[in-house]
Amino acid sequence: MMVPGLDQGLGERAQARHLLGRLVQERLRVSQRPRALTGAGASAESGIPVFRGADGWWRNRRAEELATPEAFSRDPKTVWEWYDYRRDIIAKAKPNLCHEFLARMENIHPRWHTITQNVDGLHQRAGSSRVLELHGSIWQVRCTACDVDYEDERVPIPILPSCRTCGGLVRPGVVWFGESLPQDVLQRAFALAEDSDLFFVVGTSGVVEPAASLARVAKSAGAFVVEINPEPSALTPAADAFLQGKAGEVFERLLGLG
Ligand code: APR
Repeated sequence: MMVPGLDQGLGERAQARHLLGRLVQERLRVSQRPRALTGAGASAESGIPVFRGADGWWRNRRAEELATPEAFSRDPKTVWEWYDYRRDIIAKAKPNLCHEFLARMENIHPRWHTITQNVDGLHQRAGSSRVLELHGSIWQVRCTACDVDYEDERVPIPILPSCRTCGGLVRPGVVWFGESLPQDVLQRAFALAEDSDLFFVVGTSGVVEPAASLARVAKSAGAFVVEINPEPSALTPAADAFLQGKAGEVFERLLGLG
């Protein structure tokens, strides 16, 4: 059945989306300094749960309650069980179209950089090599006694895991709430945001600092900011173009726009 007003509305929306996609495509074509900031939503289509919203609960606990130094000193076993659960999901996951698109962009744009809040390593597994990991890597561990850090990819990991050098308790090598980000990585990320003409913000709620500031810094420096997310986020007001949808699907559409 034809519903004239409704059909026209849908047609206009699809056309507006198409035009916005063409605009972003054109920006992508002429950009000299493109960057992407990714968050948990970039890995959602690989089956990795995001942190906030309904997905973010584990055994009735929220990520914010588990990913803290206080939670680890109080109950390292529970925190390690949560990380073991996430490591298991990540080990079985495959990069999705979002990761693949960003890896492909690196080949097209010699100055493309991806800055990620994710610790899953899926950008690298998709083939990206210019990746800044703001929050560390889930495959890295650090000794709480002698401070040595190294890669440990065992799944499952023995709980509680002990340091291969001194036998002390190791912790996940990720940045927790209330902890500082690695200063060299952070400085490079801000320098890249300041020196950007096109800045993609993909799958992040934009509520965790200092990562969220990167988009605003890029915008202040004159970058065209493109957000990709199924829902508006805290960074939507800073976006010049909001492409609403799942990251993999939006990137696939962008590639196919011709
Ligand atoms: N494609 C794109 N975005 C998606 C998708 C998808 N398929 N699915 C969900 N999203 C969006 C959600 O709408 C939300 O805005 O991804 C975002 C996920 O938000 P968070 O769970 O808050 O993740 P993130 O922004 O990466 O969190 C930042 O907080 O817990 C800490 O250190 C952790 O790096 C993490 C940081």
